[in-house]
Amino acid sequence: MTRYFRDFPARSGDRMLLKMEHYLEIYDEILAGWQGRDVSFLEIGIYKGGSLPMWQGFLGPASRLVFLDIDPACRDLALPGTLVEIGDQADPAFLDRVGRDHGPFDLIVDDGGHKMHQQITSFRHLWPRLRDRGLYIVEDVHTSYWPGFGGGFREPASFIEFAKDLIDRMHSWYTEDDAGFPLHPLAREIGGIRFHDSLVVIEKRLKEPPVSIAARNGQVTRSRRILEVRGRRSIF
Ligand SMILES: C[S@@+](CC[C@H](N)C(=O)[O-])C[C@H]1O[C@@H](n2cnc3c(N)ncnc32)[C@H](O)[C@@H]1O
Repeated sequence: MTRYFRDFPARSGDRMLLKMEHYLEIYDEILAGWQGRDVSFLEIGIYKGGSLPMWQGFLGPASRLVFLDIDPACRDLALPGTLVEIGDQADPAFLDRVGRDHGPFDLIVDDGGHKMHQQITSFRHLWPRLRDRGLYIVEDVHTSYWPGFGGGFREPASFIEFAKDLIDRMHSWYTEDDAGFPLHPLAREIGGIRFHDSLVVIEKRLKEPPVSIAARNGQVTRSRRILEVRGRRSIF
C-alpha cells in the first residue's frame, strides 16, 4: 500500500496543511488506485494552501485540479497547474457555475466550513457533477455532533443524519413500501458509502437494477425475481 499521504506531512513545504492525522492512512488505503492518474479533482477549502501540493503530487501531471474557498485571499495560493475559485460552498448558483465550468469531477473533497447546510448544499449540487466511479469525500463530519456547527446528537438537520439517509436511498430498490419508502433516483447512482471516524466517502456507480445469479457447472442464470416479487417491475 502507498504511504504517500502518511509521508506527506514530513515532506511539506512552507504552506500549512490542516488535516486530522488518521485521514492520512485512510487516504493511503482508499485512494491507492488513484495515484498518478490524470483526473479531474475538486477540493472545497484552501485555508493556507497546504493541500494543493499534496493533491498535485499524488494525482497525475495532466490532472485538472480545482480548489475553492470563500476567502478571496486564497486566490493568491493557486499553484501552476491548479485553479482557484472564490465563492460560498453554500451558494447553489456558485456551485452550479463551478460544476459547469470545471466538471465533471472524479474526486471531490469537502474540507470547507464544515457546517451542516454547507456540506449538504455542496453535496446536492456537486454530486451530479461527479463521474461514474468517482468518490465524494466529506471531511470532519464530527461537526455533525456540534451545536455550534448546526449539529447535535441525532440532530435531523446534521450531515451525518443526511448521510445515514443515503444508506436508505441506496437500498430503495428493495422497498416493499412504495408509499412510505419509494424508489429513489440515488439507488441507481450510489455504489457504496464508507463511514470512517470523521470521514464519509460516497462512491458513484451508475447501476442497473440489481439481479441475483445462480451458478452451477459454469452455467450462470441471472434473475430479477428478488425485485419482481416485490412488485418492482416498473423499475426495469
Ligand atoms: C479546514 S480549512 C481548509 C484546509 C485545507 N483543505 C487543508 O487541507 O489544509 C477550511 C477552509 O474553508 C473555508 N470556508 C469556510 N466557509 C466556507 C464556505 N462557506 N465556502 C467556501 N469555503 C469556506 C475557510 O475559508 C477555510 O479556508
